[in-house]
Amino acid sequence: MAKAAVSLSGRDILDLSSLSVEEYDLIMHTAKEMKKILKRDIKKVPSLRGKCIVNLFYENSTRTRTSFELAGKYLGADVININTGSSSVKKGECLKDTILTVQSMACDAIVMRHPVEGAASYAAQIAKPVVINAGDGCHAHPSQGLLDMFTILEHKKSFKGLKMAIIGDILFSRVARSNIAAWTKLGADVHVAGPMTLMPRGIEDMGVTVHKRVEDALEGADVVDILRIQLERQQKGLFPTPREYARIFGVNEARMKLAKPDALVMHPGPMNRGLEISWGLGYSDQAVIREQVTNGVAVRMALLFLTLTGGKQVENVD
Ligand code: CP
Repeated sequence: MAKAAVSLSGRDILDLSSLSVEEYDLIMHTAKEMKKILKRDIKKVPSLRGKCIVNLFYENSTRTRTSFELAGKYLGADVININTGSSSVKKGECLKDTILTVQSMACDAIVMRHPVEGAASYAAQIAKPVVINAGDGCHAHPSQGLLDMFTILEHKKSFKGLKMAIIGDILFSRVARSNIAAWTKLGADVHVAGPMTLMPRGIEDMGVTVHKRVEDALEGADVVDILRIQLERQQKGLFPTPREYARIFGVNEARMKLAKPDALVMHPGPMNRGLEISWGLGYSDQAVIREQVTNGVAVRMALLFLTLTGGKQVENVD
């Protein structure tokens, strides 16, 4: 149970390293209550009535943008989506002016995705509204990390002692960095594997064990988090051919047998099926990938609620 003293009122959510375990607990507890609202026929409560949330996305998204929009709407807020491809960003408006323009329209929260590391942190420095980082370059994707945490806790009692395997393109993955930050803080044993060309130098300093062979990371794992190969960020010749990648590093049903029989298969999406994950594994009983998507809405409801409502804790909603 979350401690009453913990509050995220007015807090910018920029990464998972700057949140405490007590704050994770508060978000998990609140998301559990929010998930009950998702199961109702009428998925609407007035908790954020009168609040305005702006989704400002400089990169493409299906899950994050849509779930933040639904999260705000289910809580009664007005939600505006700015697609930078059809906004004044196309006319050359800089990030600072875009943020200040949005702020001038009296919005309460800006949910921002940007290709540059630190962009959300910069926005938080200049903006009065709450800023929630929906992914900044290779740095952090905190709401993804929190929905992954929530999904794992629905299946496993705690993170303590769990063997976590994160497989694939660690170098470009903000999901990997967010999950490593949280999972190590929660006492899990985190292993990473993938091509050494896609392994950031010094990643061991985050408290993970690095493997060259995927099989060594998978051996006895409780959770297998398969990362999307970010083809849009692979312009530096660090990536083998897709066929070679799938053969050496792809996770498939045969390789999954190395993990524990009840191991969870996770993927942040969108999946490159046949590349980092086999077609069958993504549809298998072990896969919790669609649960991750559902939980993304509940966790984002929790984040908006906790940051925008003055820290009132949600109690049982049923
Ligand atoms: N996991 C994730 O961030 O997916 P989207 O890019 O579809 O938002």
